[in-house]
Amino acid sequence: MKANKTSPFPGFFKSISLSMKQFISFFMKPEDVHKLLLNLANNSSDDFVPILINPFDPMLLVKDIGLIHPILKDVEYQNRSGFPIIDYIYFLFIKNLNLLKGIQPKLSKNMGGITFANGEDWKRNRKIGLRVMNDPQFLEYSVKPILTSTDEMIEAMKKSNEEVYKINQYIGQLGIDVVGKLVFGTNLNIFKEDRENKEENINSKKLSHSVRTMLDAIQKYLYRPFPAGFYSLFKSKQIKELDSAVYNLALTGTILLDKVKNEIDRNNMTDTQECLSAIIYKNYPELDDTEIQAILMDLLGAGHDTTANLVVFTLSLILEANLLDSSEELQKEIKAISNILPVYGETEENMNYRNILETIEKNSPILSSILNESLRLYPLGAVFSRISLNNKKNYTIKGKKNYYLKPKTKLLISPYATGRSNNDWGENSDSFEPFRFLENEKKPEAFIPFGVGKRSCIGGRFGILEAKLILFRLFQLCTITKDTSFQPTDSLLAFTLRTKHDIPVRIGYNQ
Ligand code: HEM
Repeated sequence: MKANKTSPFPGFFKSISLSMKQFISFFMKPEDVHKLLLNLANNSSDDFVPILINPFDPMLLVKDIGLIHPILKDVEYQNRSGFPIIDYIYFLFIKNLNLLKGIQPKLSKNMGGITFANGEDWKRNRKIGLRVMNDPQFLEYSVKPILTSTDEMIEAMKKSNEEVYKINQYIGQLGIDVVGKLVFGTNLNIFKEDRENKEENINSKKLSHSVRTMLDAIQKYLYRPFPAGFYSLFKSKQIKELDSAVYNLALTGTILLDKVKNEIDRNNMTDTQECLSAIIYKNYPELDDTEIQAILMDLLGAGHDTTANLVVFTLSLILEANLLDSSEELQKEIKAISNILPVYGETEENMNYRNILETIEKNSPILSSILNESLRLYPLGAVFSRISLNNKKNYTIKGKKNYYLKPKTKLLISPYATGRSNNDWGENSDSFEPFRFLENEKKPEAFIPFGVGKRSCIGGRFGILEAKLILFRLFQLCTITKDTSFQPTDSLLAFTLRTKHDIPVRIGYNQ
């Protein structure tokens, strides 16, 4: 079919309606990228907008939501285009795993995992990830560890006796504590004074430092125009720190996976049998340790920061809008959910966790709506990428107008831009309307915080469950008010979206 519009490339620079200053700051400060996306979303009339995050790697931002859905659902666009710093981290991680096992590293371009893998490896690993993250038994099993870790965090805050808490920092740590339990069935004791996990000899302080170091390095180097090999040769101080952080993650993963495997092999699993590493080891004997570790690392990478920040943004928005005081509906829902949550040490241990899971998932419409609105304004995966397969000469997209895209065209999709476009959400698209999603029976097409189609997020259901459990638990056991130093919610684009400011709160303890 003949398209009535030619490739968007010829109009490349013409359509950038940015001042030079913005354009230059684009190269210099990756954290400004999302402001720019917003500007483009509302001020450019083009369906595709050329983006030069990396001057050697042009991408097209797909702006029109009518084009985003067909592209993301098309197999032609099921590959993701990667980032050199992430390729380097995978490379280092796999190399360290191999060296720890005394195996000479065999390194390929496609390093495994899910998020940045392509081709057959991606297909197989995604199927595994999708199955385990949505396994009802795993979801049911995760309720107790999430609640107990949150309890430990609250206990630690109480003990610290601070007047004002930077609660975002506590929640970041909480995310890692939960990962320890859910991925490896081990208690990292992040919130205990004696922070060692003696049994497995894991230093949890060092572990959470390694996760932070890795995320910070990704943030800093994400848009740098160097190939992955550059980081193997030129070691800045931060890259050296990254190297030892990745080594520590590989070492910790190896110790913990070996423990889980030993327990399974000796038929000695206790309450850890539903953790992710156990489920994968038991159900996928065809995977070797390195392949299992790459999937687990991916789940940590894609799941930890996103979920922790979802809790932080949502809490910030709730406090900013004074919803805990002003919304009777929210108060009622918190009360109803508090009635079914166990209080450890007081409630009978024989809890029906399936019932808790189902009630939290299906019967908390107010918090669901607030979380969706939080995801609309602050989608943690604020931009994601695609690259076309090479098997068509020109790819035709049929939208309002038809387009030809050249083979290997890199596309960028931004849930941040689609979530704030005035066309889709009205003139007040920037304002927080907590009950917006209660009124919409069907979610608007422009709401895509988990992506769409064949590469959409596999952990969304779990992420929402974890966020709800943490928030309900906090509201059940604490009275949280914002401190006078609280600043309106705002974001920075790191690899994922983070809050721009700390969230300073005062806490009263209900029990
Ligand atoms: C709760 C907040 C979360 C948000 C907002 C979020 C968002 C996203 C987005 C936007 C993508 C890209 C989708 C696309 O390319 O179409 C993605 C992919 C992915 N997410 Fe999430 N995510 C969240 C939580 C999680 C969790 C908890 C996990 C797992 C533990 C997870 C695992 C993944 C994986 C493995 C992918 C890559 C899928 C693929 O490439 O096939 N995510 N996520």
